[in-house]
Amino acid sequence: MSDERAVPTVEVDDVRRVFSRRGRTTVAVDGVSFTMRAGRDLGIVGESGSGKSTLARIIMGLDTPTSGSVRVQGEDMTAKPRSRVERLRRAKLVQMVYQDPYGSLDPRQSVRACLVEVLRLHPPRDIDIAARASELGDLVGLTPGQLDRSPTGLSGGQRQRVAIARALAVEPRLVILDEAVAALDISIQAQILNLLAELREELGTAYLLISHDLAVVRQLTDDVVVLHHGRVVEQGETGVVLDDPAEAYTRRLRDSIPSAQWREPGTLDALVVTV
Ligand SMILES: Nc1ncnc2c1ncn2[C@@H]1O[C@H](COP(=O)(O)OP(=O)(O)OP(=O)(O)O)[C@@H](O)[C@H]1O
Ligand SMILES: [Mg+2]
Repeated sequence: MSDERAVPTVEVDDVRRVFSRRGRTTVAVDGVSFTMRAGRDLGIVGESGSGKSTLARIIMGLDTPTSGSVRVQGEDMTAKPRSRVERLRRAKLVQMVYQDPYGSLDPRQSVRACLVEVLRLHPPRDIDIAARASELGDLVGLTPGQLDRSPTGLSGGQRQRVAIARALAVEPRLVILDEAVAALDISIQAQILNLLAELREELGTAYLLISHDLAVVRQLTDDVVVLHHGRVVEQGETGVVLDDPAEAYTRRLRDSIPSAQWREPGTLDALVVTV
């Protein structure tokens, strides 16, 4: 863990985000602080509207907090990037994979063309871009035939593999997964989660995983932050917080997931082997 490249850290300090629209004010994030420790993956859980995606966008630098600060590996993500170089450097720190890759993939170009475009923008090293695009496809389990299709010609699971390949093309230190498997069938979810666990071993990328599904968070993360109405109600080691919650809210969240999901053979249990 002495290699600085392999140890992303996120520091969120007293972040607040207030939205005002047509006279209505929403406090989406209300004084949140936490640290994502070096070499550890973090989960953020909380019911719908608790501020998870808003926080993710702020960590990515896509949104600016009303107050507070965010640093990713020491880099202030809340200050506006002053140049293209600075913008590209930030993209190398954090990439995001969303729930619905439809919205973020251009249907007019092939998957291969999309990967080539990202590689041109962020050449990781002195590489052969075409070869690297094929390699990335391979890495996430897409066939050469699938790479030559438009995203619209792929299944939901395959499209999510494309979104992961595109995020990884930049070789970021941190990948934020915002409900990245929520829309997929349970068996495809398990495949994608296994893939993410493998890639973490291979590339040393850290994950910040946002999910409604506490079973998934339990399997993939070391630490967890529980959000409720934009505030942290509980945080700590995932095993401790989810197995023995100190707060009634966390207990309610946990009890709201079907117990079969903790145990169902061949689905999430398969992850135990690889994580
Ligand atoms: N651009 C915006 N303008 C106004 N209000 C917003 C905006 N983005 C988010 N909000 C509000 O902020 C609150 C937090 O939303 P957010 O999307 O961060 O929640 P979430 O935890 O990601 O929910 P979900 O689990 O449904 O994805 C919600 O009340 C939402 O309506
Ligand atoms: Mg969200």
